[in-house]
Amino acid sequence: MKNIALLGSGFIAGVHMEGWKRITGANIVAFFEIVPEKALNFQEKYSIPHYSSLPRLLEEKEVDIVDVCLPTFLHRDYVLQSAQAGKHIICEKPMALNVEDAVAMKNACQLNGVELMIGHALRFWGEYKKAKELVTQGKIGKILSLDAYRLSVSPTWSVVSWILQQNLSGGAALDLHIHDLDFANWVGGKPIEVFSRGVQSVNGSWDHAQTSIRYSDGIIANIEGGWMMKGEFPFTMGYRILGTEGVIEWEFRAGVNIEQRGDANPIIIYREGEKEEKINAQDDDAYYLELKYFFDCIENHRTIEQATPDHGITAVRIATAALESMEKGIIVRL
Ligand SMILES: NC(=O)c1ccc[n+]([C@@H]2O[C@H](COP(=O)([O-])OP(=O)(O)OC[C@H]3O[C@@H](n4cnc5c(N)ncnc54)[C@H](O)[C@@H]3O)[C@@H](O)[C@H]2O)c1
Repeated sequence: MKNIALLGSGFIAGVHMEGWKRITGANIVAFFEIVPEKALNFQEKYSIPHYSSLPRLLEEKEVDIVDVCLPTFLHRDYVLQSAQAGKHIICEKPMALNVEDAVAMKNACQLNGVELMIGHALRFWGEYKKAKELVTQGKIGKILSLDAYRLSVSPTWSVVSWILQQNLSGGAALDLHIHDLDFANWVGGKPIEVFSRGVQSVNGSWDHAQTSIRYSDGIIANIEGGWMMKGEFPFTMGYRILGTEGVIEWEFRAGVNIEQRGDANPIIIYREGEKEEKINAQDDDAYYLELKYFFDCIENHRTIEQATPDHGITAVRIATAALESMEKGIIVRL
């Protein structure tokens, strides 16, 4: 059994809470929240003790794992506090607002001998895992290019609207886009060059981005991501991977946000001279699978190989290079 402290009680904290509830041996001992009404609602729903101070929580409760579901601008501070208190940590993506903070988080965990995993949930998402598996098996030959996209309406559900402020969330170019940047890294290998064009919202936040990445063995990735869609535009994500011997394609459209996940679409594989092949790769909830993977690694002293701090750092490196590229109109060499 492991005792867990949940930091935050917003959107993703609720998703994590549902995941933790399904994991045998995962015991949520308390949560941290600074907004009283939010704390009250969460406490009513889940009946777990509330703290408005992390040091006090860690002093009064026995905690093995801290789950950081706080706004991005707080990740560094709360990961450092938790690491210094000797707790293993799972921290939501984006790891941090910049590479320097992300590296400091990794170093603090190493120094204090605690594990750190970043919530890059696509690495646990059925259709993305399957794409990676098919690519690794050589199903479409050598990979030439990868296109991926993630489009949403503006995330107005965020309570204090920190998410709509570039300096607190990094805008969609960091927050939303990073899912596919990490997926591209997973498939593409070592990124060497980033060029991006973006669109700013009225508040100046870079909220729609088209990012091109070149990888060391020649793979090109083109990633589109943003939350400037309008009206009832459904949450949309997908990818198309071109190889020397075939194409893998998948698209998903949900309700207005990702929570309203509906029926799955199959992955389609196209190969020269063959009929299209459809694979249903839908799996259990990716957030649950991600937490379960992390929990099992901690419980059984296994090395974390997915969504590692290095994966988190590289994703932040690309997203911040994309932001620099958008702002200056230049290609950023990594
Ligand atoms: N993996 C995913 O698919 C996914 C999805 C959504 C969000 N996220 C990430 O999770 C993190 C949290 O996002 P969210 O959507 O849950 O946000 P949210 O605004 O819904 O929740 C954040 C919570 O932190 C609390 N909080 C504590 N201290 C705070 C402070 N000083 N200032 C402001 N809020 C404070 C807020 O009250 C709120 O309850 C972000 O890093 C975000 O990028 C990841």
